[in-house]
Amino acid sequence: MSTGGPRNPEDLAREIERLVREYSGQAHGANAPAGPGSPAFVPGVTPVPYAGRVFGGDEVAAAVRSALDFWLTLGPEGDAFERELATAIGVSRSILVNSGSSANLLALSALTSPKLPAERRLRPGDEVITCASGFPTTAAPIVQNGAVPVFLDADPSTGNVDCSGLEEAYAPGRTKAVMLAHALGNPFDLARVTAFCRARDLWLIEDNCDALGSRYALPGESPRWTGSFGDLSTQSFYPPHHITTGEGGAVNIARDMRFKVIVESFRDWGRDCWCASGKDNTCGKRFAWQLGDLPEGYDHKYTYSHLGYNLKPLDVQAAIGRVQLGRLPGFGEARRRNWEYLRSALEPLSGSFDFMRATPGAEPSWFGFMLLVRDGAPFTAVELSRGLDEKKIGNRRLFGGNLVRQPAFVQLLRDDPAAFRVVGGLDGADRLMRSALFVGVYPGLTRPMLDYVVETLHQFAR
Ligand SMILES: Cc1ncc(COP(=O)(O)O)c(C=O)c1O
Repeated sequence: MSTGGPRNPEDLAREIERLVREYSGQAHGANAPAGPGSPAFVPGVTPVPYAGRVFGGDEVAAAVRSALDFWLTLGPEGDAFERELATAIGVSRSILVNSGSSANLLALSALTSPKLPAERRLRPGDEVITCASGFPTTAAPIVQNGAVPVFLDADPSTGNVDCSGLEEAYAPGRTKAVMLAHALGNPFDLARVTAFCRARDLWLIEDNCDALGSRYALPGESPRWTGSFGDLSTQSFYPPHHITTGEGGAVNIARDMRFKVIVESFRDWGRDCWCASGKDNTCGKRFAWQLGDLPEGYDHKYTYSHLGYNLKPLDVQAAIGRVQLGRLPGFGEARRRNWEYLRSALEPLSGSFDFMRATPGAEPSWFGFMLLVRDGAPFTAVELSRGLDEKKIGNRRLFGGNLVRQPAFVQLLRDDPAAFRVVGGLDGADRLMRSALFVGVYPGLTRPMLDYVVETLHQFAR
């Protein structure tokens, strides 16, 4: 009942937050990390997703607080999340964007900047070495920037690039960069790839979208987070990923802070000005620049040094991301525990399946549990995928399989036979396309769910 006079905004916000937490506690129980309070599991009835949002009242309260604040565009939460994310990965800087695909587009576009030394700048027709197996938007930005992807094969046992083709793929003067994803959280051979890039002055972009929280140790060194080895790296915060903000992502800058202004410029319309949203004249000479063929003093805010985009997220996403980031260590542990559990419980099925293994030197924070149907098994991966689906067990193929067999890439080559190059055969990528699929290990899975997955796979193999 009303007590009379108007209540102040702080009191109202506190009451709203209390109600939001109460609501979330009742409405979102099924989205909490798996534990003793998880809802009962009914085999064959309760779905076993391959991934999903895991969150609680803290995330919902953070989102509502940010909504009440109504700053909307990147602001205080964005600044804090960028700092916290960079610290968590061990990089100099993280820049938030609206998806992992946008992050890949920006990271690759950044290499085309005239602010980089001419001999290292990626120009149309230059080449970028990548892997034929994986997610399409790791490779698409290369084409979108007028450069030529050079596809290497994948190793079916790790899901990652087969590094044996690196030397052959290298074209002196034309190769400018290597852009590779860590497959399903399993770091690629960073020792080999970083040494290759260093020896030839090539940029390295790590697509870390599926590997937040994975670690890798270079020979003789302590383990470091993936995403901190390349010049640039990228994250996705789409719901199946290690942490989520709904849509969302980030570009990480390992060391070279020239990339801060460049990546932000491409993200923010291509502008030369680096003022944060709502700020003016950070450089102190807003009306004193003379750039391009513009008249001297033309407003720096409306000066464009790149052909850019607008790929910014909202502050409310950052508010959610900060809470999720706090959960990352626990999430990573759960993913590793679930992966190990499946791995040992499925060992007896090694006559029917090959199992993905961790790259030597790696401590993966797994995105999923990948198995490959063995050639000669009495069923195909398509049949297995369908069978699991009928049993309500979520499963996915290894994204685009062999990308060069996707309609978009077939068309690309039809339109221009020089649109991309393939080095060696792509038997490994074909094998992954033909026989690999993965099931979930995410922190929302309970032990009964994992047991049901194991039992169903045993039945299938029988
Ligand atoms: C390796 C990899 N890179 C990039 C992306 C794209 O991320 P987003 O869906 O946020 O655009 C994905 C998507 O899952 C991915 O698996």
